[in-house]
Amino acid sequence: MKIKLSSLFALAGPARALTCTACHGVEGNSSSPMWPNIAGQHAAYTAKQFADYANSARTSDGKTRIMQDIAANLDKDDIAALSSYAQGLK
Ligand code: HEC
Repeated sequence: MKIKLSSLFALAGPARALTCTACHGVEGNSSSPMWPNIAGQHAAYTAKQFADYANSARTSDGKTRIMQDIAANLDKDDIAALSSYAQGLK
């Protein structure tokens, strides 16, 4: 699966999370057990997951590299914004 992230991450704040909603749900509550809920998660935890995905300390089940590929395209500001945005969702 290929997702074009460049246009998304040019946007500011919560708009960065638009692409995430396809899998993690509009409000960060996923409609499928395949995709974890991210709403309300502690920002520090979420930020660490992105760091771990980016350096491959965390991998998925081997069927998809999606989060690793996404994390590799995020900078520190993106990660901070997304993590605190996710924490604020219910
Ligand atoms: C194509 C589907 C897809 C998209 C798009 C996607 N994710 Fe994910 N995400 C997953 C899957 C599947 C997992 C769990 C498996 C894994 O680790 O790869 C996951 C895991 C995560 C986790 C770890 C959750 C935990 O409890 O440890 C976070 C955080 C996360 N995603 C955030 C995001 C954010 C923020 C975006 C948008 C920038 C995003 N994801 C876009 C499918 C997706």
